[in-house]
Amino acid sequence: MEDKERLCYRNKIILAPMVKINTLPMRLLALDYGAEIVYTEELIDYKLLNCHRKVNETLNSIDFIDKSDGTVVFRTCPQEKPYVVLQIGTNDPNRAAMVAKLVQHDVAGIDINMGCPKNFSLKGGMGAALLKFPDKACAILSTVISAVKIPVTCKIRILHNVNETVNFCKKLEATGIAAISIHGRRVYERPYHENKNDVIKAVSEALEIPVIANGGSKDIKIFEDFEKFKIATGCNSLMIARSAEKNCSIFKKDGKLEIPRVIQDYLRHAINYDNFFANTKYCIQNMMGNVHETQQGRAFLETTTLYEISELWELGDYCRETQKKMNMLRFEERDLACNDQKRLKLNPIIEVQDDVNSLKCMYIRSLYLLPEDLPKTKLLNWAKLHRKPLPKYHTEQFEKLFKSTVTFDNKKYSSSFWEKSKRCAEQGSAIVCLHFLKVYDVNYLKINVHSRVLTIARI
Ligand SMILES: Cc1cc2nc3c(=O)[nH]c(=O)nc-3n(C[C@H](O)[C@H](O)[C@H](O)COP(=O)(O)O)c2cc1C
Ligand SMILES: *[C@@H]1O[C@H](CO)[C@@H](O)[C@H](O)[C@H]1NC(C)=O
Ligand SMILES: *[C@@H]1O[C@H](CO)[C@@H](O)[C@H](O)[C@H]1NC(C)=O
Ligand SMILES: *[C@@H]1O[C@H](CO)[C@@H](O)[C@H](O)[C@H]1NC(C)=O
Ligand SMILES: *[C@@H]1O[C@H](CO)[C@@H](O)[C@H](O)[C@H]1NC(C)=O
Repeated sequence: MEDKERLCYRNKIILAPMVKINTLPMRLLALDYGAEIVYTEELIDYKLLNCHRKVNETLNSIDFIDKSDGTVVFRTCPQEKPYVVLQIGTNDPNRAAMVAKLVQHDVAGIDINMGCPKNFSLKGGMGAALLKFPDKACAILSTVISAVKIPVTCKIRILHNVNETVNFCKKLEATGIAAISIHGRRVYERPYHENKNDVIKAVSEALEIPVIANGGSKDIKIFEDFEKFKIATGCNSLMIARSAEKNCSIFKKDGKLEIPRVIQDYLRHAINYDNFFANTKYCIQNMMGNVHETQQGRAFLETTTLYEISELWELGDYCRETQKKMNMLRFEERDLACNDQKRLKLNPIIEVQDDVNSLKCMYIRSLYLLPEDLPKTKLLNWAKLHRKPLPKYHTEQFEKLFKSTVTFDNKKYSSSFWEKSKRCAEQGSAIVCLHFLKVYDVNYLKINVHSRVLTIARI
């Protein structure tokens, strides 16, 4: 890696790591507002080691996906790559190094968490437990540093006294870390305890590498307070957690924004990157403060989809449009990826059936809000209403893909789109049938992509 591309930790205002808060939308928001480096939430080493890396063409993101349950453990994107530091929770040099190797081409830096006071971390020998084992802490850092080309840092809390803290930091510095961030509280101290800025100052004077001051949120309410915190700690870089969690526009040089505006800005990123609903709700709730006091707050608590949240902040249309575009892209992506190649291998006779009314139609579950909207249910109800024999489905399987034909009123209907499950394939054929029966009309959308008719029902 060229030195000029290497992340520099001097003179930086940084978004500090926060579990559940620092997912992709919050990191992008902080960068928009002026943060110069953004840390991820702490990610536990064995969790990441159970992931595979996947490029998501639809979102233009890079996803690390859990091999066991398919969940996205870490999502990042090219836009944040020069500024994002991934924080690892670990107690083992080799595991930490393997994680660093796994992500090194997608992030700007690696940080090792040595400050987390939670029982979960302490019992596992991670986080602040490492403060008691300097040799282990140093071994982790050295091993990671020799495994990857990107800079490696760590985040600690202060120890019992100034000398102990300085000595410990000097040992860490000797491993070759690029910087060290220090939260000016001891492991057992809580946010209401005073942040020991003078201890941070003593360390920053004793070390050559940049020391990043942390723990000042209580006294940082406006941008200008950053300067005071820098002076009090003798550091020219600082990282901030809680003030940013509550109002991320704290990073704005030209003054904070009102919370509704911050929530809107946050929501756009959450929508664009299809952030988990529960995580989005959690982050917004933290910005709103006491949600029970206002009508909007109570309405917010009732929401169950990203769309419902978006509506509360006048982004309903934006959410719907974006999700629609995403579905199109995904449709196209999957169609190009699997359908044509697989079809070549299939018996062509299946495709050339003159008596089958066929359309290429993808079934997208999320478009059907009520149970009675589901294509199969709709067709069944239509059949009952018109006293017709009930529809019969026949499904073919090719490798892990399915295609279904429904026979109804002596005619056959099929979607030539190969679905990933039998259930979806049946719904697809029901969509086609409903189309030919003219049950779907205004809500039914037809688009031409690359001159092939691709159809999605009900948008
Ligand atoms: C919600 C929340 C989650 C946090 N998660 C992490 C974490 O994952 N890793 C970490 O090193 N520190 C974590 N911290 C600690 C902060 O990074 C920071 O050290 C602490 O809040 C003091 O800084 P502040 O005064 O700016 O809030 C978390 C803090 C909060 C409030
Ligand atoms: C990309 O992300 C979207 C939204 O979460 C998801 O529905 C889609 O399946 C993903 N695509 C790939 C190829 O992983
Ligand atoms: C953490 O562990 C300590 C000692 O085992 C215990 O006293 C404390 O209640 C625990 N804290 C939490 C939040 O579980
Ligand atoms: C701290 O360290 C300095 C130099 O290493 C030493 O002179 C001083 O006595 C120590 N102070 C304490 C309280 O241990
Ligand atoms: C965020 O900043 C705005 C503007 O200064 C202020 O009105 C609001 O109270 C702030 N919210 C929090 C939680 O700091």
